[in-house]
Amino acid sequence: MTIIENFRRSLPMVEHARGKRLAVTCELKCANACMKPDCNTSSNPTFREIAGAALSRRAVLGLGAAGAVALTFSQAGSAGRAVAADYEGLGGLGLPKPGWSKLPFEPIKPVPANIDQFVVPGGYNWMPLIRWGDPLFADAPAFDIAAQTPEAQARQFGYNSDYLEIIPDKSLKTGVLVNNHEYVNANIMFPSVPAGQVLPPEEVRRRGDIAKMAQGLSVVEISRSGSGTPWSYVQGGRRNRRITVETVFELTGPAAGSALVKTADDPEGRWVRGTLGNCAGGTTPWGTILSGEENFDGYFAWNAEAPGHARYSSTSTTSTSTGWETYDPRFNAHDAGYVNEPNRFGYIVEIDPYDPDSVPKKHTAMGRMKHEGANVYVSKDRRVVAYMGDDQRNDYLYKFVSKNKISASRAKNMTLLSEGDLYVAKFSGDSPANEILGTGQLPSDGQFDGTGQWVPLTKNGKSVVPGFTTEEVLVFTRLAADAVGATKMDRPEDVQPNPWTGKVYVALTNNSERGTKSPLDEANPVTGNRYGHVIELTETAGHAGTSFAWNILLLCGDPAQVANTYFAGFPADMVSPISCPDNLAFDAAGNLWIATDGAPSTIGYNDGLFKVPLTGDDRGHVQQFLAVPRQAETCGPVIHDWEGMVFVAVQHPGEGGTYELQTSVFPDGYKSAPVPGDVPTAPRPSVVQVYRA
Ligand code: FEO
Ligand code: CA
Ligand code: CA
Repeated sequence: MTIIENFRRSLPMVEHARGKRLAVTCELKCANACMKPDCNTSSNPTFREIAGAALSRRAVLGLGAAGAVALTFSQAGSAGRAVAADYEGLGGLGLPKPGWSKLPFEPIKPVPANIDQFVVPGGYNWMPLIRWGDPLFADAPAFDIAAQTPEAQARQFGYNSDYLEIIPDKSLKTGVLVNNHEYVNANIMFPSVPAGQVLPPEEVRRRGDIAKMAQGLSVVEISRSGSGTPWSYVQGGRRNRRITVETVFELTGPAAGSALVKTADDPEGRWVRGTLGNCAGGTTPWGTILSGEENFDGYFAWNAEAPGHARYSSTSTTSTSTGWETYDPRFNAHDAGYVNEPNRFGYIVEIDPYDPDSVPKKHTAMGRMKHEGANVYVSKDRRVVAYMGDDQRNDYLYKFVSKNKISASRAKNMTLLSEGDLYVAKFSGDSPANEILGTGQLPSDGQFDGTGQWVPLTKNGKSVVPGFTTEEVLVFTRLAADAVGATKMDRPEDVQPNPWTGKVYVALTNNSERGTKSPLDEANPVTGNRYGHVIELTETAGHAGTSFAWNILLLCGDPAQVANTYFAGFPADMVSPISCPDNLAFDAAGNLWIATDGAPSTIGYNDGLFKVPLTGDDRGHVQQFLAVPRQAETCGPVIHDWEGMVFVAVQHPGEGGTYELQTSVFPDGYKSAPVPGDVPTAPRPSVVQVYRA
């Protein structure tokens, strides 16, 4: 640790929506979204204005229990992320029953935020499965940080891993890995620019093009000797693919071909080059990967005079951290040919990981926002329902319900997300407004809870929002949701249905503006919500229906540091401290797993992965399974407890360093023995596998 200590630096911290975090991350990841004027200036009613009018929670829950959806293989295949692309084949693979687990562990102690280590429980080992820069194709060059080129990066694994899926083939000895690459940390990838100097245009372009190739997604074949043993990735695998900021996507759904998405490059409005800000995602029962285009706004010089732009960008801008707009006019919305280019990002994209030649899709029917991700559940009537969060302070929770039903035809299922209806959530509480104190203290009925409505934005595929055309609802979805009075939430991240119960879990990561720019309500009951919370939502008219009941499962934080944390009633002195919930997953026993992004700057510990039982005496017993290294975020958890394995993506390790003075050496360590004067290797965002020792 002494050597690592030498590389510690004191870096500027800024007050960010995620709590205090490194200024460099605010710039690179979210384009300083938190420092700009709030782009949601709508005056929707919130809970405080409608409290007291709530229905009887018990009556609603009773209806929900009566209407509980029987599990199908489809659920287990998607949200359970069990094993196969072919959902009809899951039965043959012997999926375990709820309550079964091969993943016993003693929770780890929280890891202080200055420790540059990946920590797992006793009895487990870990190793990287694939790292930024690893060559994917037979002709791809080996990683060499000093010899980066756009051409090399296009053939190598991308940067800043987020959503992750590991899908074994039926043999369990081969499979495919899919991973989002959300953004790049140029500050630790490239040599620093000396004070008072600027990069010459050709170097701006070289670095910009490397970044374009380092983002997007990777699809990579994997192999191993048998179930429960670690995987290796296969260089040159048949399904290997890189999707980048230059890959062509097909726009689907009602807004495809509309005037709102036409540009000089694409006068038909049907083909978009690239995907941006790919954050979380989901895996469908038909074996495709959904990926959310989240912080796409940071890549454009915005023109706030253009229709709809201000609600997505808040202000006009002339430059970005990537510099793409300086040499590629499609990133300059002031250019007359590309005013609509930003309208072509902010969608849920769908990738077929089995066909490297397939054209990926952007689904306009699922709306346009800063999509965290999308997770699919099959309703009782076999339509598919996708749950989605718009991750910005005071933005909304959505769901999409397909028009058509899931079938045995994979080709037909691949069109399910192109046609259907979009809904936004409106929450009501069941406690008097004056009981919501903003401190997290429970109201007199003992929980934060109530009912809610899914308010339709489209019906039979057509706008039902007064004053909005269908295309406007789907391209300027935030404005349509403002118009129907959706409930402003504390930054909705992953929204994940439990495959075993159908209940839906919503991670709300934090909201520094709660109680000031947005009023307190029972669903968002903490002033300046620093540590985030998790809502448990019960569909009371089926998953395709429009009514729900809800309760807060967790009010996060470190009980040793703050009062009024809440863990579904479990004793607070017996849980692992947890802050800023982000990505969610379920294991085959029906436990919720939560990955965090923001613990270092809020509770002083490295981010981690936590298991939370949802039933029985252990309900709410938060237990930490692993911790990621210094200045990293835990992403994309995949829980294969059925074979004693867990996978996570380690995003932005050492984000606060510089090329010359790195602050993390994860995962490669030092170039030689760690002795004074040794040179650290640059940190590499990686996919890590944890397996039984
Ligand atoms: Fe990219 Fe909402 O996290
Ligand atoms: Ca209540
Ligand atoms: Ca996230």
